Amino acid sequence: MSANTDPCSRITELRELLNRHNHNYYVLNAPEISDREFDMLLKELETLEKQHPEMADPLSPTQRVGSDLTGAFEQIEHIYPMLSLGNTYSIDEVDEWFHRVRTALGGESFNVVGEMKFDGTSISLIYEHGRLVRAVTRGDGERGDIVTENIKTIRSIPLQLQGSGWPDFFEIRGEILMPWEAFDKLNREREFNEEPLFANPRNAASGTLKTLNSREVARRGLDAYFYYLLGPELPFDNHFDNMMAARSWGFKVSDIMTLLPSLESVDDFIRHWDEARRHLPVATDGLVFKVNSLRQQLNLGFTAKSPRWAIAYKFPAERAITRLRFVSFEVGRMGIVTPVANLEPVLLSGTIVKRASLHNEDIINTLGIHEHDMLFVEKGGEIIPKITGVDERDRIAGSQPVRFVAKCPACGTPLIRIEGEASWQCPNKFGCPPQIAGRVEHFVGRKMMNIDGIGEETAQLLFDNGLVRNIADLYDLRPEQLMRLPGFGPRSAERVMEGLEASKSVPYDRVVYALSIPFVGDTVAKKVARAFPDIDTLMSATSEQLAATKDIGPRIAESVVEYFSNPLNRQIVERLRAAGLQMSMPAESDEGRTDLLGGKSFVISGTFSLHSRDEYKALIERNGGKNVGSISKKTDYILAGENMGPAKLEKATSLGIPIIDENRFLEMLGQQ
Ligand code: IVH
Repeated sequence: MSANTDPCSRITELRELLNRHNHNYYVLNAPEISDREFDMLLKELETLEKQHPEMADPLSPTQRVGSDLTGAFEQIEHIYPMLSLGNTYSIDEVDEWFHRVRTALGGESFNVVGEMKFDGTSISLIYEHGRLVRAVTRGDGERGDIVTENIKTIRSIPLQLQGSGWPDFFEIRGEILMPWEAFDKLNREREFNEEPLFANPRNAASGTLKTLNSREVARRGLDAYFYYLLGPELPFDNHFDNMMAARSWGFKVSDIMTLLPSLESVDDFIRHWDEARRHLPVATDGLVFKVNSLRQQLNLGFTAKSPRWAIAYKFPAERAITRLRFVSFEVGRMGIVTPVANLEPVLLSGTIVKRASLHNEDIINTLGIHEHDMLFVEKGGEIIPKITGVDERDRIAGSQPVRFVAKCPACGTPLIRIEGEASWQCPNKFGCPPQIAGRVEHFVGRKMMNIDGIGEETAQLLFDNGLVRNIADLYDLRPEQLMRLPGFGPRSAERVMEGLEASKSVPYDRVVYALSIPFVGDTVAKKVARAFPDIDTLMSATSEQLAATKDIGPRIAESVVEYFSNPLNRQIVERLRAAGLQMSMPAESDEGRTDLLGGKSFVISGTFSLHSRDEYKALIERNGGKNVGSISKKTDYILAGENMGPAKLEKATSLGIPIIDENRFLEMLGQQ
């Protein structure tokens, strides 16, 4: 390579080079240089840009890393409103649409373009003179949020167009997606951090796009496909050629996009992709058919909500059928035994499914599962696969019904069935290995004692090596013991010791949560800790006193009393106290308290991007509001996040309760 010696020309040259390599890698999937070479060019550009601030360009490839300071989103009106598409679920209805189009065009011949319906979140990008000027979310279709800073971090989106022939001004629409691989990685991470999981890649993509920290957006690996070009001067008079032109300018336009000259070819396209879409790297929920000619599109026009020249065919919920290998019975930290169907691996909505929870004995019986049955597995837009039925025609002759185990699969203790509940439990709390290891894992988790250096695997390793038999043993660990464990060195041992030390300042309510008292989750722990502000008061509380606390029912009260009545648990608590853990609430500070929400009650639902659920709960309380668990006539507001459940939505709507999003909520607190 002939490196340019004039720094300003070199900057321009590097930008062009890096734009090209980005396109090769993220759009064409055909890198020409190694990641290392790419990083070196990027470093060189960064250095030169620092030395020549006069050459700064917000669209330089160095600006794709994002920043922690995106700030709140401004809104803007769309130049062309963002409409939706008419939906159908059957080939027949697509055929009817085709006939309606033919009639409306007076029998004139027409072509249809068949494409994927990508299941992400839609975006509108505005380009002027070949440069990205603005990215706007769909919003309510009329106005959307300006998310340009976040969009710039998506490497497959060209910031500076390539090739030629682009109009000076145009808009391009597409779908922001989180590929399955990135989605699985993100959820694994969230699971580890005990953060709520995203239900599907669509929610993950839209949640990510609304994140105020563009560095976080950059990290999450979004992608984008484009499917609609708009503007006063487009290069061609038809959709297909315009999209091919967009591809040549650097946009990712799916190869699946096909010109279909007849109704037969439309039907074949549906039949083919109904099956073949299972192997795509991104989530799709159907197909879209569009009349190709822009003149004919204009003739057909729009209804109030959607274009007459296009229709979406939605795929039925994905279902696979696979053979049951065996049912395993797994013991959690509370001793509950969960049956899990272990399946012959099967591809479903982009991921391989090998296991699915059967939840409890009643579900096994209702489904009527026999050993080695063929089972139907479904993923209805959610990540967790569900067994929905048995194909009895394929049952192996003489195979026996699956029976729930009578003894704990881990320690052999006879199981007991909790009254009024569907689950079986192993009562051997202090001798059953998965229960002990599970409590240790819970104790060290991020929302509990947050002990850096110990994750799920290390917790198991400590237990397996006999170093930790209960949570108090953690504080007796010595670095030389840790260094004998596989994979441990002085540095990692040191990290664990530091993590343990730091956990001594974790507040009392989290210590209560970390103890693994049945029915005491994080919210209950907070309430219990507030009402019984030190461990001695809590340990001596009666179930009546506990049940007199707001939101603490008799079941929780009894569970707390039972926990502390066990001498082994009391001993553990004493050892934790001796180790220096926080065993009382700090004196309340009034800083930051307001009465802005003046006693109003809130139900929180869904997932959020600006703050965690817990942070919202705390904000509500600090500002004089109340958190309530379920919607009733008395609820004042629903604070709704990304994937609010449909039942809640319906209930809130029917009771006329205002549903507000996080931006609106923060506005109420004067924080936006
Ligand atoms: S065309 C005026 N094409 O589906 C019509 N939309 O229900 C403009 N979508 O909001 C949309 N894949 O987010 C079109 N190939 C595709 C699409 C697609 C996904 C989404 C898009 C839109 C929604 C319409």
